[in-house]
Amino acid sequence: MNNDIVIRGFGRYAPENVLTNADLEKMVDTSDEWIVTRTGVKERRIVSEGQFTSDLATEAARMALKNAGMEADEITHIIVGTFTPDHLVPSCACSVEQKLGIKEKAAFDIAAACSGFLYALEMGRALLTLHPEAKILAIGAEVVTHRVNFTDRTTCVLFGDGAGAAVLTKGGQGPKLMDVKLATDGNLGSLLTVSGGGCASTYKPGDTIRDDYFVMLQGREVFKHAVRSMTSICNEILEANGLTNKDVDVLLPHQANWRIIDAVGRKFEIEPEKVYSNVDRFGNTSAASVPLALSEAVDTGFIKDGDLVMLTSFGGGFTWASALLQF
Ligand code: COA
Repeated sequence: MNNDIVIRGFGRYAPENVLTNADLEKMVDTSDEWIVTRTGVKERRIVSEGQFTSDLATEAARMALKNAGMEADEITHIIVGTFTPDHLVPSCACSVEQKLGIKEKAAFDIAAACSGFLYALEMGRALLTLHPEAKILAIGAEVVTHRVNFTDRTTCVLFGDGAGAAVLTKGGQGPKLMDVKLATDGNLGSLLTVSGGGCASTYKPGDTIRDDYFVMLQGREVFKHAVRSMTSICNEILEANGLTNKDVDVLLPHQANWRIIDAVGRKFEIEPEKVYSNVDRFGNTSAASVPLALSEAVDTGFIKDGDLVMLTSFGGGFTWASALLQF
């Protein structure tokens, strides 16, 4: 049996509701021109009433399973990267298991903010090394808009909801997951937070919601670290695999903001036409952004057979990561 770790199928899902910049102009003091110039985002998707992170994750998982030609019951492990689970307990992964109509699998969430999907890929790789027969569902899914303050113009224009998924096995047909690199710097955690409701920022019965319930970020600082960290971890993974940026056919960064994506592309010294972005249509969907873009880039033919694809992400923590896929 071929021992390579392979992605057998990709999937994605975004809610139908579209929130445009024109809609946001009616909610806060902003303009389409400001949002497009500073972020590249034109519209984003948001969940409807009663639609939760596990619903988005389950839809993406179903698509990935279909593309892998597998039944849900064949899956042995479900890993969901998210900071917006339906509940703290049970985990989002447990709800996905239930919604897929399966049981007695191993299912757990990963808290790595926007890097959650790449962290899930690495956990999948580790599990496959321990259990070569495993069939892993790695998912990134978020209802970020649940944790966005729609009266704060500095954050509410940035984010959207969505999900993406991949099925991993050892051997079989599909692109090879060559390597993954993960990094964290907890010293910088206070620059990007969602702290309300944690035991360091509790809510008692009757309390009103405070600003800390929502995403809070120091935009310029996050921007600088995001560009620096994603570029360096892309170079590290190339060096570790005896490759250079000239070998990379597609760079697919976390879809935080077009200016961040563009700056990473420039610093990484790759041609702009090799950089994939859908941030204009989805905004920053946190852990969902990389798998949502990846599934789309495969289906639209942006990624072709034979391509070496570099994934990279950056998020609260700070956490950051890179991964190499050989199609
Ligand atoms: N509409 C209009 N004006 C806005 C605005 C909005 N939605 N949001 C902020 N502004 C104003 C600010 O109040 C400020 O006004 P002032 O100069 O009068 O004080 C001005 O625009 C510039 O704000 P600033 O925060 O300096 O803008 P910026 O160029 O740094 O862009 C971000 C802001 C958030 C777009 C940018 O810093 C960024 O993308 N950071 C990374 C955020 C991110 O993606 N985080 C998640 C990563 S995983």
